[in-house]
Parts: sequence; structure tokens; C-alpha cells
Amino acid sequence: MPNVGGRNIEVLFSAEQIAERNRELAQKIAERKLERPLAVSILKGSFIFAADLIRAMHDAGVEPDVEFITVSSYGAGTKGGDIRLVRDIDSEVEGRDVLLIDDILESGKTLNFVRELMMSRGARSVSIAVLLDKPGHRKLDLYADFTAFECPDYFVVGYGMDVAHSFRQLPYVGRVMDEPK
Ligand code: IMP
Ligand code: MG
Repeated sequence: MPNVGGRNIEVLFSAEQIAERNRELAQKIAERKLERPLAVSILKGSFIFAADLIRAMHDAGVEPDVEFITVSSYGAGTKGGDIRLVRDIDSEVEGRDVLLIDDILESGKTLNFVRELMMSRGARSVSIAVLLDKPGHRKLDLYADFTAFECPDYFVVGYGMDVAHSFRQLPYVGRVMDEPK
């Protein structure tokens, strides 16, 4: 079990497993034949997944424009209720096939918020790619078009995902096993 900064991490999805799934997702995305695709990475948690997925998309023959949007949830802490736009994209969305890229689909509130925003701006289509799906916590009727892995019901870190901005650098997805003293 890797030890990172004094914390034991159980690896749930290895770098190799993730790379393989990224190639498979990119193939499936290529089969959709999106027109003028616009990939939108939802920051911060998706930055590594998005970086790898868009390069796998290039290898699969998909050449998206790439944008970034930052949203945060507010209300009851990190499990919070409502979503707020922190930093918007610059690109026109009208008529584009938008591919939203996020780390985790849990309640669905984050992705639903960004999806509605893109639809309201006249996107031709909005599809969703997520690294992890936690279907047990869904509050909205929302599905990802492309999911790398179904995630067990743990709080996970790594591959862009954090606890208080730590652990984003890990090349794998894991679970922090021991609590700090
Ligand atoms: P949703 O709006 O409930 O679908 O929340 C999904 C967002 O919550 C993700 O984009 C993550 O930023 C965050 N999140 C949910 N579960 C975890 C986790 O286990 N580790 C890190 N972030 C998480
Ligand atoms: Mg997030």
C-alpha cells in the first residue's frame, strides 16, 4: 500500500487501468461523430482526467476545442446543495457538440448545472464523460454517456481529486486509509 506524506492509500484504480479505460472511452467518443466538438473540463477535480482523455481522443481521431469552467457547491459544506459558477468559459457554445468532462458524478448537481448552462446557450448537444460514477448518491435523473469506472462508496483522492487540495498529484485513484493524528 503506497504511503503518501504519512498517509496510507489503498489503490482502487491504477494508472494502467485508467489509461486503458481512457483509450476505450476515446474510441466510444469517436464513434459518436461529434461535429465541431467542444470539450469542457470542469475544474478543479477533472484536470488530469481531462488532460489524458483529450489526448486519447486525439489518438482516436477526435480534435476538440478545449475549455475550462470552474464551479463550486455551496450551502451545507462540501456535500453542499447548490452550484455556483466561479469562472466561465470564453467560447461560443451555439451549435456546438459539447462534451463535459468531470471527475465524479455523484448527486448529479454539478453536471446538471453545467449541462443546463450549455443547453441554455444553444449547444447542439451536451454529452458527459466522467472518470467515476457513484450511482448510490444520485439526487437528479442524470446519466453519463461515458464512464470510466463505477466507484465504490468511498471518498476517493488522486488523479486530480483532493482532500483540502492534497493528493491531486497521485497517478492513481485511491482511498485514504488512516486518519491524521
Ligand atoms: P455532485 O454534484 O454531487 O455530482 O458532485 C460531484 C462532485 O463532488 C465531483 O465533481 C467532485 O468534485 C466532488 N466529489 C464527490 N465525491 C468525491 C470524492 O470521493 N472525492 C473527491 N471529490 C468528490
Ligand atoms: Mg468536481
